[in-house]
Amino acid sequence: MSLDNIFDKLWLDYTTQNPDVQKVYELFTNEGETVLNDHIAFRTFDDPRINIDVLSRVFIEHGYEEKGQYEFAEKHLYAKHFEHKTRKSPRVFISQLITKDFSPFLQKYVKNSVDSMSKAYLNSDELIYSGNIFGTHTYETYLQLRTESEYAAWLYVYGFRANHFTVSINALKKYNTIEKDKQFKLNEFGGEIKGTKEELLLQSSIMANQIKTEFSDGVYNIPGCYYEFAQRFPDKTGKLYSGFIAKSANKIFESTDFYK
Ligand code: NI
Repeated sequence: MSLDNIFDKLWLDYTTQNPDVQKVYELFTNEGETVLNDHIAFRTFDDPRINIDVLSRVFIEHGYEEKGQYEFAEKHLYAKHFEHKTRKSPRVFISQLITKDFSPFLQKYVKNSVDSMSKAYLNSDELIYSGNIFGTHTYETYLQLRTESEYAAWLYVYGFRANHFTVSINALKKYNTIEKDKQFKLNEFGGEIKGTKEELLLQSSIMANQIKTEFSDGVYNIPGCYYEFAQRFPDKTGKLYSGFIAKSANKIFESTDFYK
């Protein structure tokens, strides 16, 4: 499958499931803007069968290379970002939960789930958009995981898919700043706009839509995916900064935190 096909599949799934994302996208396109993505982000666990190295394989095969590494001590996460070597393509940001830092319950869940996946599937290009990998889920388990990690709970329900796409503000014609739109609930953790011009990257995001989700023990509304906005600035040599700021990303992760 071509890179474009993979991104199309991820985008379709993402916009179908999250109504606010579609609305934001249309706000821009109705203004005549072409929306380009600064990056696309994925989440996983650090089990060697599904970790960053495994998830990034499909992108490496399509011309990407590793560019940066990030640590998020407070959330027990580790991440890498990848960029395409030759073409203008969104950066790919993949994070993984460091499972050994969590309870035996969580660790066992991850191990058993990956044990039950077929080897052929684990090695296929389709893994990146395969969605939920944990089979039937219960709300009880979701809540239990959430007491340990919002990230783990989200991953338990949604699995492999784009956690978020990110509008490149730099690529827009009319909007040259990260503007606030009152229609959408913004992630306010650590302030609505993360980062400073001096850090060469400003980021903001909307909170994930509440998605009606069927669990084996009932139907509940839980946060899905969100949309992010990024604006990059040139460094002293005039080159546009291309990495990520861990302190900012740390708060962006909270866009999928549970809220009422
Ligand atoms: Ni992001």
